[in-house]
Amino acid sequence: MVERTYLKHIGQHVGSEVEIRGWLYNKRSSGKILFLIIRDGTDLIQGVVVKSEVPAEVFEAAKRLTQESSLIVRGVVREEPRSISGYELNITDLEIVQLAEEYPITPKEHGVEYLLDRRHLWLRSRRQHAIMLVRNELIKATRRFFDERDFVLIDAPILTPAAAEGTTTLFETDYFDEKAYLSQTGQLYMEAAAMAFGKVYCFGPTFRAEKSKTRRHLMEFWMIEPEMAFCDQEENMRVQEEYVSCLVQHALKNCRKELEILERDTSKLENIVPPFPRLSYDEAVKILQQNGSEIQWGDDLGGGDETIIANQYDRPVFVYGFPAAIKAFYFQPDPERPEIVKGADLLAPEGYGEIIGGGERIADYELLLKKIKEENLPEEPYAWYLDLRRYGSVPHSGFGLGLERTVSWICGLSHLREAIPFPRLLNRIYP
Ligand code: 4AD
Ligand code: MG
Repeated sequence: MVERTYLKHIGQHVGSEVEIRGWLYNKRSSGKILFLIIRDGTDLIQGVVVKSEVPAEVFEAAKRLTQESSLIVRGVVREEPRSISGYELNITDLEIVQLAEEYPITPKEHGVEYLLDRRHLWLRSRRQHAIMLVRNELIKATRRFFDERDFVLIDAPILTPAAAEGTTTLFETDYFDEKAYLSQTGQLYMEAAAMAFGKVYCFGPTFRAEKSKTRRHLMEFWMIEPEMAFCDQEENMRVQEEYVSCLVQHALKNCRKELEILERDTSKLENIVPPFPRLSYDEAVKILQQNGSEIQWGDDLGGGDETIIANQYDRPVFVYGFPAAIKAFYFQPDPERPEIVKGADLLAPEGYGEIIGGGERIADYELLLKKIKEENLPEEPYAWYLDLRRYGSVPHSGFGLGLERTVSWICGLSHLREAIPFPRLLNRIYP
């Protein structure tokens, strides 16, 4: 019996015969020798079929193989430093599982819309494969980070009765003759959970009907949202810088190969360690004006503004003390300057923009009620949220890290659409 192996572990089988089940990634021929690049989902390997060394039907089958045909091969593993994975498979037996039709994605260049239409196939390509593996590692590192710090994972609902991040980007749906909305954030529910468990986080999809068509926006994205009871904004920022550093260091350690495939300049990631610089919004506006931005005090930072600020530093920077008027209703105002709030955005280096939004929440019932009224939000759907301020309210803080923005930055992607398996973009919900 030949042992079935995954290419990821092929190094443990040098000199032995193994079975690989996978797909044909690419094929080259030099007459009497066929070079098959085979992928099995975990890695690639070059398989070699020598006409004079295999039964005629094996060589014929190999010759018929088309790109992405599924197959089962058997052969002996050899070390081969010049080969794509450092190993080579001397194929002695080959079964075609399905002979693929002419594959629409070839090694030549394709336009991005063409590829997005075929995202279900595009995911098989080496680059997309590498990105998804980095994403997977960042999720693993996230779970470990919060587990080690005694956070409890609490899942937030997706269907919700009210807006949390402003009403302009809500996806509305019908809920048995009532209006419901797809969740923009799990935060409000995490606040409830923090009062029950102390330290919690959720990790789930969130939805925003962002009419903007930028490389930083998706309609559906995944967010990691920790929330901590008895925690102020200072401590909140410390958790964030530790968490982000942990993600980057984890990727550097565990995704070397993927980052190499992506041609990521990892020297830019190596210095991502705490502490991160902290810049007040007031200062940020001054720096931006000196750099030619049109921004006035009171305006939100535009994408270009974020890049100008981020370019001043070699690691992510916190911009804190935003005007209350441009932030969500739940932000705790600064007691000394009520026109600004105790919250911060964390801007990634190299023009990747805001990866975290977070802050201290209003703990006082009357103040929160006043804010809800000022924003013209309906009170009824927020009754439960107000309740949290009636039964043992405490100072609490939290944040949300956008997974795709973080994947994009760490992988060095030029657009968020490659950071999620099936991106939902303005005018795109297929496949
Ligand atoms: O700054 P945001 O809107 O914050 C919140 O939703 C808070 N309720 C989070 C919290 O405190 N629990 O979004 C947080 C992060 C952003 O920094 C960004 O990384 C990401 O979510 N994000 C998006 N990512 C992709 N596409 C979009 N349209 C995004 N909008 C926000
Ligand atoms: Mg934000």
